Amino acid sequence: MVSSTHDTTFLATPGHQMNPTIELLLTRRSVAPRLLAAPAPTPDEIETLLTIASRVPDHGRAVPWRFIVIAPDGGARLGDLIAAAFVADHPDAPAATIDAERGRLLRAPLVIAIVSSPHENPKAPELEQILSAGAAGMSLLIAANAMGYAANWHTEWYAYDRRFLGELGLTDQERIAGFVHIGTAIERPQDRPRPALDDIVVRYGADGVAPFDNALRTR
Ligand SMILES: Cc1cc2nc3c(=O)[nH]c(=O)nc-3n(C[C@H](O)[C@H](O)[C@H](O)COP(=O)(O)O)c2cc1C
Repeated sequence: MVSSTHDTTFLATPGHQMNPTIELLLTRRSVAPRLLAAPAPTPDEIETLLTIASRVPDHGRAVPWRFIVIAPDGGARLGDLIAAAFVADHPDAPAATIDAERGRLLRAPLVIAIVSSPHENPKAPELEQILSAGAAGMSLLIAANAMGYAANWHTEWYAYDRRFLGELGLTDQERIAGFVHIGTAIERPQDRPRPALDDIVVRYGADGVAPFDNALRTR
């Protein structure tokens, strides 16, 4: 268990570019839910994960997110609803497809839903509150990986299906930001191509906007 007010002892040490946090952030990658097996985080570890996920930038202290821990028996119950909604929309679907829909939330041993829950706040427009929910999801992913587990952030169609969201207790103003699937990777994931920094970063200086390749040389 982690107190939400524990000391911040992590400080960057000048001259030491690499540390385990940087290493993790440079190499972390998602693992498909079907490749996530037991063991899952323990109850104490889940509490730590949720403590970390709720320690994110949050303009105006809006607390615009909440979490639903979906245990396997809950995933089974929700699976029946997902399958029923799917059959209503696809009455001719083959049994194997319906079974796959029923198993959506049973692929990984633990699923944590992040609920984006924006509300009126004098400081934080809705966009900022939604972004804060994204930060919660990212912190959850990183923390799960730092504990030695693997994870994947999915939404999939049922995250947007109101027939299903009522069962999870979402209000009309709330949305699913993601279902974070967590477990132990049974396969090491291949990395995927990442964008080149030159394509997504520019430098802004006295002459205005310039390509990023100047940025590292000319500060
Ligand atoms: C908000 C959000 C929703 C996502 N939903 C899905 C999804 O429904 N299905 C899917 O295959 N990937 C989805 N992804 C992408 C997966 O998380 C993907 O595996 C991941 O982006 C891989 O990148 P990484 O290895 O850097 O984590 C979603 C990502 C985000 C941020």
